[in-house]
Amino acid sequence: MSTTIPPFDPANVQGDILAGLPKKVQHYLLFQIDDNVQAFRQRLKLLIPLITTTTQVMDDRSKIAANKKAAQEQGKPAPLLKISGVNISFSHTGLVKLGITDDIGDSAFTAGQLADAQNLGDPGSGTPFVPNWIPAFKNPIHGVVIISGDSELTVTATQAIVNGIFNIGAHNATMHEVLTIKGQVRPGAEKGHEHFGFLDGISQPAVQDVDTKPNPGQETVGQGVILCGRDHDVVAGTTTPVARPPWALDGSFLAFRYLFQLVPEFDTFLKNNPIKSTGLTPEQGSELLGARLVGRWKSGAPIDLFPLQDNPAAGTDPSQNNNFRYDFPDDPKTQDRCPFAAHTRKTNPRADLEDLGFPTENRRIIRRGVQFGPEVTPEEAKSGKTKFGRGLIFAAYQSNIVNGFQFIQHSWANTVGFPIQKPVQPGFDPIIGQQTDLAIRTLSGTDPNNQSATLSLPAEWVVPKGGEYFFSPSIPALRSKFAL
Ligand code: HEM
Repeated sequence: MSTTIPPFDPANVQGDILAGLPKKVQHYLLFQIDDNVQAFRQRLKLLIPLITTTTQVMDDRSKIAANKKAAQEQGKPAPLLKISGVNISFSHTGLVKLGITDDIGDSAFTAGQLADAQNLGDPGSGTPFVPNWIPAFKNPIHGVVIISGDSELTVTATQAIVNGIFNIGAHNATMHEVLTIKGQVRPGAEKGHEHFGFLDGISQPAVQDVDTKPNPGQETVGQGVILCGRDHDVVAGTTTPVARPPWALDGSFLAFRYLFQLVPEFDTFLKNNPIKSTGLTPEQGSELLGARLVGRWKSGAPIDLFPLQDNPAAGTDPSQNNNFRYDFPDDPKTQDRCPFAAHTRKTNPRADLEDLGFPTENRRIIRRGVQFGPEVTPEEAKSGKTKFGRGLIFAAYQSNIVNGFQFIQHSWANTVGFPIQKPVQPGFDPIIGQQTDLAIRTLSGTDPNNQSATLSLPAEWVVPKGGEYFFSPSIPALRSKFAL
C-alpha cells in the first residue's frame, strides 16, 4: 500500500459496509463470470453508476428518518419510501478469473470458505473434508451482487436491471446466476428480530470519523478495522500494517454464511429446560434460559444489566442497550449475571479480555445480513420440528477475515475454554458454537443457582449450509482495476 493515503471519502466506499443498505427485502445474487472476461469487465463498468455508496446510503437514511418524523407528527404510520441499493463483491476465485492475482493479504480469503469449513467446525465428513453444504456452495462462486430495497417488487425490478446489464440468461451472457438467496425482515412486531425471536443488530462498533456520535458503551474502532489500508488495518496483536496492494484501499472483506435455524427445536428445548428459581413460572424460567444463552432478552435488553427480569424499554434504547462491559464486580469470576459462554459474551467479550490487557479492537466486525424463510407455522410449533427452511443470511464486514469472523467462530465460539481464566470451563457458544462431528455440546453457568453445572445441548440449532469469503472493492478500484 502506498505511503500517501488519500483522505477518507465515504463516496468511495460501497454503502453496505459502513452504513448498511436500507432494506425490508434483500437478494444475494451469487454468480459465476462467463468465459468472455473482457465482456464482463465492460459490463461491470455499466453497473458502477448503480452501486450505492456510503454517501448515498447516509442520504437515504436521512430521507427515511425525515419521512418517519413527518408521519409521526401527523399521527399516521409512515409510508415506505421506494428505495433500492446495489453492491458487488468478489471471491478469490472471482479475482483470479478477472486476472487479478496480487496477494491481497488475507489467507482465509485466498483459500476460500469451502477450504475453511472444517476449521470453522461446520458439520461434515471425509478426507478431504466435505461440509454438509448445499451443492451450490461446493463449486466456485465468483462474486455476489447484493440488491436491497423496500419491497420484493422494488428488489426484483432492480435485479432485472442488473440481469440486463450482464445479459444474464441471454446468448451473450457475461455471467450466470449460481443461486439467488432471498431474505426479508420479519413481519410486524418481529421486525429487527432474528428467527429465534431476539432483537438483532444492536451492538456494532462505531467507526472513527464515520460514526461520530457513538452511543454509551459503544466502542469506536479505527477505520482500518473495517476498511483495508486505513489506520489500524494491522496484523493481529501488532501495530504492523498489513501489506496490501494499492487497489485494496477502502475495500472490505465480507464473510458470508447461509445459516439455517431450527426454531421449533430451539423453542422446545427452552420449554423443556426452564431455569427453576423461586418465584419463576415455567414460562419465565424458559424465557430466562433463552436470555442466558444469547446474553440478551428477546427485547434486546442485555442480561449483564438486567439479569433477572426483562426491561423492554431498555432493549430498544440506544442510550442503554450497549452500556455494559461484563465488568460488574462479580462478572469476571461468577456467572450471576451472564454465562461466560452466552453468544454475545463469546463474540464480543469486552472486559473479559480487555481488563486482562488483551485489546479486542481488531476482532470487531460489522454485521449486516438479513433473515430468510417463512415464520414458524402452527404445525411446526406443535410438532417441535422444522418443516420449512429459515434462518439468517449472515454477512459481516472487516478488513481482515483471519482477525475477525474466522477468529470469532473458531477461537471464541467453538473453543470451550474461552473466555480465558475463568473458574469453570465456559463451554460452547450455544447459538453458533459447533464441531464437525456434531457431538453433544455443553456450557456452564446457564443456571444462576448452580453455576458449575453444565447444560448439554441436544442439537446444533444453527446449521451452516454454505458460505464464501468475498472482497467488496472501493468505487475507485472498481473503476480502475476491475472494470474496463
Ligand atoms: C443464526 C445465527 C446467529 C444468530 C441467531 C445470532 C443472534 C445474535 C443476537 C440475537 C445478537 C444480539 C444482538 C446484538 O448485539 O446485535 C447477536 C450479537 C452478535 N453476534 Fe450473532 N447470531 C448468529 C450468528 C453469528 C455469527 C456466525 C457470528 C460470528 C462468528 C456472530 C457474531 C455476533 C457478534 C459479534 C455480536 C455482537 C456481540 C456484542 O457486541 O455484544 N453471530 N447475535
